Amino acid sequence: MRTPRLLESLVDRIEGNAALDAPASALSGVLRKVIRPGAVEDTLSGTPIGHPLHPLLVAVPIGAWSSSLLLDAVGDEEGARRLVGLGLVSALPTAASGASDWLSTEGAEKRVGLVHALFNYGAIGMYAASWFARRAGRRGTGIGCSLAGASLLSAGGYLGGHLAYAQGVGVDTTAFQQYPADWTDALAVDDLPGEDALTSVQVAGVPVLVTVRAGRPVVMADRCTHRGAPLHEGSVVDGCVVCPWHDSAFSLDDGSVQSGPANRPQPLLETRLHEGRLQVRRADERSLRTNPTGT
Ligand code: FES
Repeated sequence: MRTPRLLESLVDRIEGNAALDAPASALSGVLRKVIRPGAVEDTLSGTPIGHPLHPLLVAVPIGAWSSSLLLDAVGDEEGARRLVGLGLVSALPTAASGASDWLSTEGAEKRVGLVHALFNYGAIGMYAASWFARRAGRRGTGIGCSLAGASLLSAGGYLGGHLAYAQGVGVDTTAFQQYPADWTDALAVDDLPGEDALTSVQVAGVPVLVTVRAGRPVVMADRCTHRGAPLHEGSVVDGCVVCPWHDSAFSLDDGSVQSGPANRPQPLLETRLHEGRLQVRRADERSLRTNPTGT
């Protein structure tokens, strides 16, 4: 069996392993007591910076620990120990941001995320052992623990890549949705929902959310940018549509995130009334990308 097929088959086994659900559920319960919805979860999810926080933070411990191996190779003992320590300190917020993202996953994503975290927690443990061994003057043991940590980190990193690039965790779920550049029929004016009521229609094969705000039709992507919930099943509160899955709130004025855990704004479409019909078109150039998923 070729190596890529072997890795694929190992990941498939993780994705399909229902035995991981019970520990994942137990760990979620514990984490949820610490990572509360609101400011803590929003910060860890990257809501204030408009981008997932976890991929920004992972560069620090990975960079520090990788560089420490280089310093080991050239015999800079003190420099290597300091970088191992820097990696440990930076691993704590990195793990917290990853845990926050993980709390919003389900099914196969949750299983892969759990194993990803276990590998990384193992790496943190090995690097902690490495730091203490180095501080005690046992350099050989320290280097050995670092190498073990690097191996675990690589396995965790592989699964982290799978989560992001294969399963799309952390990706704006509307990234590949294409909206029409020209005015396109959405629905009859007579079929518009009432003030702050929500409905969904298809425009060029893409589901969009339609509501009326202060007498004006508002149309935005119906798929929540966070994890893809159908927003028309949510509610309108204080001028925002609130997602039915994780309660992110998006402004009906401009689609901006008013509260997370979402970190990407909800795409809004331009609207006009024409011969008794509501017509829409895309409001920006984000949809120039081709759409490999259909909707
Ligand atoms: S799917 Fe998570 S906030 Fe909408």
